[in-house]
Amino acid sequence: APFVIGIDGPSGSGKSSVSRAVAARLGAGYLDTGAMYRALTWWCRHTEVDLGDADAIVAAALGLPLEIGDDPQAPTVAVDGIDVAAAIRTSEISSLVSTVATVPEVRVEMQLRQRALIDDFAVRHGACVAEGRDVTTVIAPDAQVRILLTASEEARLRRRSLEVHGATDEAAIAATRDQVVRRDRDDSTVSQFTEAAEGVTVVDTSDLDFEASVAAVMD
Ligand code: CDP
Repeated sequence: APFVIGIDGPSGSGKSSVSRAVAARLGAGYLDTGAMYRALTWWCRHTEVDLGDADAIVAAALGLPLEIGDDPQAPTVAVDGIDVAAAIRTSEISSLVSTVATVPEVRVEMQLRQRALIDDFAVRHGACVAEGRDVTTVIAPDAQVRILLTASEEARLRRRSLEVHGATDEAAIAATRDQVVRRDRDDSTVSQFTEAAEGVTVVDTSDLDFEASVAAVMD
């Protein structure tokens, strides 16, 4: 069977950067499942889907013309031929993505696509690193390696603040806290991360820098 490495965690846990580095080191394919929910959210805005209408969001998900690359060093995301890699990272999309991602039929459709992509990437590269919030529990519970990356709230806020605001002063941390706490709450039906599922290894990155986090996952 193709080798699958699933990495889940909340925002600011280091999930994306660590997953990409691990995939690059292993010569594995890479799938960011969160980018798919972000791409769907972007597509809903682009095609003026009413985000209060769950049926309309489901229809958009079923027809989403998404193309996602497998290279951890240059992850590409295109919708209807449009490069959306940057557009899906805006704070507007971040604030709307949970609304889309918590519709049950949307999750079923995305999970189907994610399983197919993981299989395809793993066959092509011999292994696939997939990251998100339900990879180790729902998408690929039979993955050979399953990891939950966690970090203290303080560490997560510091990292996110640096990433989004380019600073870690008090005002930037406060703004980040509002966004992160709200999204954690909005995502709470999808993922809790208070404890790891059976067979999932917890890697706490609170006191680890990037290199040490990568090393811990490689171990
Ligand atoms: O940017 P951050 O690391 O916080 O999140 P992301 O991995 O880009 O995921 C963005 C959003 O997509 C999350 O807040 C969830 O609402 C949703 N998501 C999900 O529902 N299931 C996944 N497997 C991955 C992401």
